Amino acid sequence: MADAQRDVLQRPLPDGIVPAAEVARMEKRWLTLMVAMLIVMMAVVVLRGVTNAIHPPSNIETIDPTTLHLDGEFAESNLGTAQEPDGSLTARLIADPYAFVPDCVKLAVDAPVKFRLTSTDVIHGFLLPATNVNTMVVPGFVAEVRTRFTRPGIYRMPCNEFCGSGHHGMWARVSVVPKEQFPALAPTERSSCVQQ
Ligand code: CUA
Repeated sequence: MADAQRDVLQRPLPDGIVPAAEVARMEKRWLTLMVAMLIVMMAVVVLRGVTNAIHPPSNIETIDPTTLHLDGEFAESNLGTAQEPDGSLTARLIADPYAFVPDCVKLAVDAPVKFRLTSTDVIHGFLLPATNVNTMVVPGFVAEVRTRFTRPGIYRMPCNEFCGSGHHGMWARVSVVPKEQFPALAPTERSSCVQQ
């Protein structure tokens, strides 16, 4: 009996300490709950990805941020909206310190749209509320997002990645016009929302 008392494992537990079997049962319950929550969250991610085309951009394309303005795809004359031979639209933008260039692009309703963006300095974010467009714009990489606008209107695009002291003022616009209006726009009007 004295031996049993000396062995800590054999001593009866003082009041307030939960027996090991009870601890194990509670841990199992919480573990089951956590696994169930993970399954639900994964299901939501997959479902949104499939039904709303909300997914991380998958292309990896590199670009030299120090020379991208000199020539090639992101030279100034190529920025803004371009119409492709198949009727789809490509909007190219650069994220600069505290501004998108151009600060407004025009696009057409119901046309396949591809945004191509890159940054000259730090990481910026590109978000169009109420659409599937939401990407980081990382220097050295080209971000590509595809979408289709179902309603005309002005969509504001705030920078949603903290990028410095001017972050709060970094935003631009996408002006979505009716499909039949778009072909009549001059190239300069497609990358500017200034009334001409
Ligand atoms: Cu650019 Cu925040």
